[in-house]
Formats: sequence, structure tokens, C-alpha cells
Amino acid sequence: MKKILITGGAGFIGSHVVRLFVNKYPDYQIVNLDKLTYAGNLANLKDIENKPNYTFIKGDIVDGGFINELFAQHKFNGVIHLAAESHVDRSISNPLEFVMTNVIGTVNLLNASKAYWFQHHNNEKTPIDFRFYHVSTDEVYGTLGETGMFTETTAYDPHSPYSASKASSDHFVRAYHDTFGLNTVISNCSNNYGSYHFPEKLIPLSIYNIKNSKPIPVYGKGENIRDWLFVEDHARAIDVIFHNAKTGTTYNIGGHNEWTNIDLIRLLCKIMDKKLNREEGESAKLITFVKDRAGHDLRYAIDSSKLQNELGWTPSLQFEEGLEKTVEWFLSNDEWLDNVTSGDYKKYYQEQYVKR
Ligand code: NAD
Ligand code: TYD
Repeated sequence: MKKILITGGAGFIGSHVVRLFVNKYPDYQIVNLDKLTYAGNLANLKDIENKPNYTFIKGDIVDGGFINELFAQHKFNGVIHLAAESHVDRSISNPLEFVMTNVIGTVNLLNASKAYWFQHHNNEKTPIDFRFYHVSTDEVYGTLGETGMFTETTAYDPHSPYSASKASSDHFVRAYHDTFGLNTVISNCSNNYGSYHFPEKLIPLSIYNIKNSKPIPVYGKGENIRDWLFVEDHARAIDVIFHNAKTGTTYNIGGHNEWTNIDLIRLLCKIMDKKLNREEGESAKLITFVKDRAGHDLRYAIDSSKLQNELGWTPSLQFEEGLEKTVEWFLSNDEWLDNVTSGDYKKYYQEQYVKR
């Protein structure tokens, strides 16, 4: 029996990781710790919320005392850490919140893990298995020119407050491995898309706006390039890495799937025209070029050959197929999208849970 703490499990990627682990490992106890910020939504987990191997705890990773108490109450065999502030535009408006959650919150979890691991490792006849898995982003590597790809040895060069805070947390995770011998693993993934994606990010925001015939804001000339991965493929990669990676290692995760923002939006418009029975070209009329994001990274591209060669993971979906599936999910989950965009989900799901 394993007890795994997943942080940020009510968010976009975290909810997919929680679902995968709860369904795939009925003999594991999965504890989901989430503050339920604007991005955390328990409606993302409705299908598994009553499973006997699942528990939700509302709490803030920035609260070190609370985190220490949590580790005193539970015997965790592992932490999969996804809780974070995750939106670049918000990090430009409020960098400090990103430092608090992404840096201080991560160090609080590392401290509690270190103390807990030392105690159980040194004082018990059968030392406990323990691993700290930190989920990070390719944005720590900075930006690429027209060629080349990020590998696990690319030097860190973050440009946004978001990526700077994630880079800092990655450094702390490595420091706790190198200095204290904590069993840690890090993965750096490219942009995800799929169901339950919060509609402030490019793809779900565009789907919402196209559906409601609102302008689709494209930053600058739309020439920036991102490497898109279906979120369920990311969750599968996390499962493979959590169970098989050697301690202290890092893996890049990506889809070999680069798109300029404008080409992606045009493809999305085409799919939406078909799904909404609109004339081809109608949705594309909503494309609106707006002021560029400050410090906007030009290109991300991930080389995930280490993960493919060493652990046998490969992406399962072609982008066109994944995007069509995602559009279908958003169109048939109107209520989720409308609740999230109106903020109503907080009324239904947040009031039920009190911290501790
Ligand atoms: P998200 O914003 O959708 O979810 C973040 C979750 O963390 C939310 O449920 C939120 O309530 C919770 N949270 C925030 N602050 C917290 C705090 N102080 N204490 C406890 N919980 C808190 O983010 P996401 O897109 O699902 O990303 C999850 C992780 O994956 C992040 O660490 C992010 O850096 C990383 N990542 C994301 C992408 C992507 O494309 N979205 C790509 C690579 C890596
Ligand atoms: P986003 O989904 O915010 O992810 P990230 O910044 O982490 O890559 O943005 C993806 C790309 O789309 C990025 O180049 C910024 C651009 N973008 C727009 O052009 N318009 C928008 O409204 C948003 C949210 C993003």
C-alpha cells in the first residue's frame, strides 16, 4: 500500500494526474492537497471524488506549519508536486504571488519531506520508501531561435516571473537531492492542452471566445511557437517517471509538435466552424491582433528522446486529433465552462471544505 500526496490536484494537469492514479492504482491512497485558488476546481474531479482510495484536503503550501502537521499526520511514500501559480500574464501583474507559491511553497514541501524522510529512514526497522517528484515546465530554459531544441542539459535562462519562479523551485529540488540526499525527480514539460484547461490560457480561451463570437486575442503577430502536448499524455509520463526514474534525474516531456500561435488558432477556427455548423472562415474573422506580451518568449521546443529511449514513453495522439477531442469536450461541457467563466464553481465547491 502506497500513500501519495498530490499537490495542486484540483487544477488542470493535477486533476488528470489524480484521476489516472486513483483509477490505475486502487491499492494506493491518493491525497489531493489544494488551496482551491481561482484555478482549482473540485468539479474537475467529480467522477472520482467518492472513490475509497481518494481524499481531498484544502490547504496552502505556503503555510509551513500546516505542511509540517500534514506530514506528521500521514505516512506518505511520495509527493507529486504540481501546485503552482501557472499563468505567465498573471505573473507579470503580480510576481510576488508566484514567488510565494512556486518558491516558498516548494521549499516548505521539501523541508517537510526532508524532516519526515530522515525520521522514518533512520528510526525504523523497515525504512520507508519516499520520493519527491517536482512537476516543472520547459519555460525555465528560456527561448529558442529558429532551430534547436531544449534538452535536459540546456542552461536555465528564464524570462518571465513565472518561469523565474519555476526555475528557482527546480534549483531548490536539486539542492535538496545533492545536499541532503532526498530522493527527488524533476520533469520539464511543454505546453499542455485538453479537458479542464482553465479558460485564461490560449486554447480554452479561444474556444470559449469562438463559441460566444467574441474576439480571439492574438499577441503580437502570432508568430511565437509553442510545442503542444495532450494533457493525458503528460499524466502518463508523470506515472512512468514517478515509478521508474532514478533518483536525482530530470526528464523533458514534449510532443514534437510545434505550432505558431496564429496557425494553431486558424486550425482551431476551422474545427470550430465544422462543429458549430458555421460557414468555413466565419470563426477566423474573430482573430484580433493585440499588444504583445512583455518579455514574450519566441519559441519553445522540447527534445524528449531521453524519456522515450530510457523509459519507453511516447505521446499517444496527433495534434489535430487531440485538438478536435478537446473542442468536443468543451462543447459538450458547457456547464463546466460557463461555471468557470462566471466564477460560480467556487460557490458550489469551495464552501464545503474548511482548512484542516
Ligand atoms: P493550474 O493553474 O491549472 O493549477 C494549479 C493548482 O494549484 C490549482 O488547483 C490551484 O488551486 C493550486 N494551488 C495554487 N496555489 C496553491 C497553494 N499555495 N497551495 C496549494 N495549492 C495551490 O496549473 P496547471 O496548468 O495544471 O499546472 C500544474 C503544474 O504543471 C504547475 O506546477 C505548472 O508549472 C506545471 N506545468 C504546466 C504546464 C501547462 O501547460 N499548463 C506545462 C508544464 C508544466
Ligand atoms: P499560454 O496559453 O498563456 O501559455 P504560455 O504562456 O505558458 O506558453 O500562451 C500560449 C501562447 O499564446 C503564448 O505565446 C502567448 C499566446 N497567447 C495569445 O496570443 N493570446 C492569448 O490570449 C493568450 C492567453 C496567449
